[in-house]
Parts: sequence; C-alpha cells; structure tokens
Amino acid sequence: MARAKKPKSAFGKLRDRPRRATEYEELIFGLYWTPPYYMPLWSEDSTRVRVESWQDFRDPAAFSYHTYVLRRAQDAERIRGCLDTMNQPDLFQQTASPWIDELNGFYPALRYYESAGCMAFHDVKSSALGEYVSHAFSLQGFDEFGHVCHNVDLCRFYRQHFGGFDRAAAIWDEAPDVQPLRRLVEDLMVIEDWAEAIVAFDFVLEQVMEPIYLVEWPRLGLRCGDPVLWSVSQVMWAQESYHADLARAFVKYVLDAHAENRSLVQTWVDRWFPRATEATSRLFGPAFDRLEESTGIPFETVWTDRLKAIETTYAELSLEIPSTSSVGRSV
Ligand SMILES: [Fe+2]
Ligand SMILES: [Fe+2]
Repeated sequence: MARAKKPKSAFGKLRDRPRRATEYEELIFGLYWTPPYYMPLWSEDSTRVRVESWQDFRDPAAFSYHTYVLRRAQDAERIRGCLDTMNQPDLFQQTASPWIDELNGFYPALRYYESAGCMAFHDVKSSALGEYVSHAFSLQGFDEFGHVCHNVDLCRFYRQHFGGFDRAAAIWDEAPDVQPLRRLVEDLMVIEDWAEAIVAFDFVLEQVMEPIYLVEWPRLGLRCGDPVLWSVSQVMWAQESYHADLARAFVKYVLDAHAENRSLVQTWVDRWFPRATEATSRLFGPAFDRLEESTGIPFETVWTDRLKAIETTYAELSLEIPSTSSVGRSV
C-alpha cells in the first residue's frame, strides 16, 4: 500500500537552501505574507521595482522581534538613566542661553518629522512584497515612534530647567525655516510606490538629515555647555546608523536584482535629493550661523563634509547625487 504523502512544510523554501536557515530567517519566514498565500491587498503593481524574489532580502542586523525588543529596551534604559543623572540644575549653570533659544526655536517640532517616519514605514510594512522587507521596515517605524517619545521627554526636561519648549505644533506649522521639512515629509508620507518611499525617506532624507540632526547639531550643544542633547542623541544615532545600513542593503538588493532598477532608483534620488538638502540646510544652517561665533563651527564645513560622505556612499552603489547647484544651500 502506497504510503500517504507527507504534507509539504511551510518552511520547505528555507530548507531547500544549501545552508541551514538562521534563527532570524526561521522566525521571520511567513510572518507577514508569503507566496502563494497572497491577499488581494498585496499586488506586484505596488512598486515599479522588479525583483525576482523579495524573500531573499535580509536585514543586515537580522532583527527578530525578540532581539529587537531587547536592544531597544536597553536603549530606552540608557536614555532614562541619562535624563535622571543629568536632572541637576548645577549641570546647566554654564549653559549658554543663545543655545537654549535656538534649540527652543525648532527642536520641539522635530517630533512631527519622527512621527512622519513612523507613518511612512507603517505603510511600507503593509505594502512591501516580502516578509523580510516588511519586518525590517516595520521595526524602523517603531524606532521612529520611539524618537517621537524621546523628543517629548527631552523637551519636558528642558522645560523643567529653562522654561519654553512647549510650542511644538505652532513651530511645525509656522516657523519659516521648518516649512521645507514639513512640506517634504507630508509628501513622503503619501508616496504610492513603497520602494520609492524607502529610497526617499531612508536613502535620501535620512542620509542628509540624521548625521546633522543627531551628531553635528548636538556637538554644538556640548560647546555651549549642554551635555544632555548629545547624550540622548547618541543613543538615537546608533539606531539611525542601523537605518542607514538597512537603506543601503535595500538599495543594493534592488540594484543587483534587475538592470532596469538602476535608472528608476536614480530617478527617485534625483527627485527627492534637492528637497532633502533644502529642508535640512534651511532647518540647521541659520541656527549654526547664529551660534558660530561662540561654537567656532561653521555650517559650511559640516554641510560640505555631509555632501561628500553621501557622494561616497552613493558612488559605492554607482549612483550619483544631483549636481551641487541643486542641493539647497550653496557651499
Ligand atoms: Fe528618527
Ligand atoms: Fe530613521
């Protein structure tokens, strides 16, 4: 009598590979959706990128929910510890008031920028055509929501010590130097093609903005007698470095997958790069300028270094930044 055929394992695809699947691969496999279990919501037309198998994409950090939550719990503890330790008025006796005025002038509104990232990646998670992509970018969305909370906590901290830091919505809606960023993220949140959203937000805007927002700007704070912004931003920067790695991995995967994808990705870079540079240089440039006498750090140096670093990153993938005449503030 013929033996009944064993039902095919859902993990067959992972088991067919020459090497053993990692714990990360097994945990994420089938977590969102997996062919042939399509639901009408997901469609190959949701992106113009052509990829044979989205299931072969891998998060460079190989985060499962478990490892991600453990790491982020540590980060949250570090930030809480930092705010508790620095909750001493004596620490701020030397803090320059022009620095606090500049910070108060735009920083509270950046919670809306972080919130936009959270929304954009929620949409990517829902539309992406493979669970490894969906999972990685859904975790990035959680990170951005965490950054909203860090912004709120920091502003509460500054308010206790210096007053102010309570006009986040008004600044976001009205401050002239914030408007290019607001308009940009409003457009980024409604990009229909989820792969373009990843490129525009992660591979363009975050590449331009995050190192200035979380490293160069807080460095000015150190020079102005404020150790808090630097300490908290360092934790957020570690997460943003991961976002940059993830974005590069995604773009490389797309470029390697199909020759036609290159011109598509370059088109997206060309479309969003000038707006990202305009938004970032309008936001930080004037504040850097007004503080330059006391900090000794000219915005031009920071800005030129940033553009060169991006040029190098893009060149490694044989992509180009648009000509410097169209990158916002001239350098
Ligand atoms: Fe963020
Ligand atoms: Fe990010």
